[in-house]
Amino acid sequence: MTGTITFTMIKPSAFSAGFTGNILARFEEGGYKIIALKKIFLTKEQAGQFYEMHQGKPFYEELTNFMSSGPIIAAILEKENAVESFRKFIGATDPAKADEGTIRKLYGKSLSENAVHGSDSDESAQREAGFFFSSLERS
Ligand code: CMP
Repeated sequence: MTGTITFTMIKPSAFSAGFTGNILARFEEGGYKIIALKKIFLTKEQAGQFYEMHQGKPFYEELTNFMSSGPIIAAILEKENAVESFRKFIGATDPAKADEGTIRKLYGKSLSENAVHGSDSDESAQREAGFFFSSLERS
């Protein structure tokens, strides 16, 4: 149902730093139900496809190199008004500007290494969830 799901990734830096368990626990404490979850190591091409809307932007190359530099955790989360509430929950894209107590403030290091991704609209959430998960994996 549109509006109830968002898509997230725990990015390579946060995964390799061992923050996965803490971040997933915070998602659950925030009321987000994990309805699909996997660890995956993206190729540069796959990262480029996922972030295709940013193609041509100055940070695209750095972003796709980074997102294919190590394993990530991909997840679909469910909650009422999931996209908007999750964006507030994780904090501003730049961890330096994120509010205290948000995931990006706690676990992010820089604009690229900002710990987690969160969908920016219901349409993106549907596309991104479908990019990583089959219907069998999200039942
Ligand atoms: P994310 O939510 O995964 O969506 C796109 C990513 O691009 C963003 O988080 C940042 O990690 C990264 N990024 C790097 N530089 C910028 C920038 N100048 N503006 C927005 N996003 C950026």
